[in-house]
Amino acid sequence: MKNERKVKVAVLVSGGGTNLQAILDATKSGVIRNAEIALVISNNPNAYALTRAENAGVSTAVVSGKEYPEQATFEAKLVETLEENGIELIVLAGFMRILSERFTARYPRRILNVHPSLIPSFCGKGFYGLKVHEAALSYGVKVTGATVHFVNEIPDGGEIILQKSVCVKKGESAESLQQRVMRQAEWIILPKAVELVSREILTNGKGRKQK
Ligand code: GAR
Repeated sequence: MKNERKVKVAVLVSGGGTNLQAILDATKSGVIRNAEIALVISNNPNAYALTRAENAGVSTAVVSGKEYPEQATFEAKLVETLEENGIELIVLAGFMRILSERFTARYPRRILNVHPSLIPSFCGKGFYGLKVHEAALSYGVKVTGATVHFVNEIPDGGEIILQKSVCVKKGESAESLQQRVMRQAEWIILPKAVELVSREILTNGKGRKQK
């Protein structure tokens, strides 16, 4: 699709930012054509993801969890930052703070999240980062993967956009599984989902049809 206008995206991060990097790389390689990464927001001032954004020439903001320990004021600051920057689509890429219904209801079908399992397995409250892979290994699943979904008021409960499976290797550690799930699934499906939803926003202004 030839479209001059691009959807303005904010990526919300807390840590290393390898998923952010995958999105930034995808805007260079052409996997993402209909979105521009306008802003990276971190709740952690020390997140390496901020350095990745700066290296790519993307504006950054910190809305510190420590500075705003109360959920309502934290989210009010987030909303202010998003609105000041004209953000149309929010991507949670390793963002480790749960957002309340007050926040998610403000952006229906405009927030994406990447989760490192095949939802509905190993997801919801308490399942984040390495804990997800530890749970998958201790259950003994042979296949895991990653999911990109819309964010609603239920943690990891919004409509699924893309999933990709990864086979578990015999005797592998949670750390090794985490790396493989990122490389073989998350870094592929997250940029694709950003492009998919951005294209749909530009086409019909609404994103995918409600079920
Ligand atoms: C990723 O594996 C992401 O799926 C996970 O945290 C990691 C962040 O890595 N997110 C969650 O567990 C959210 N429930 P990154 O900072 O290198 O992108």
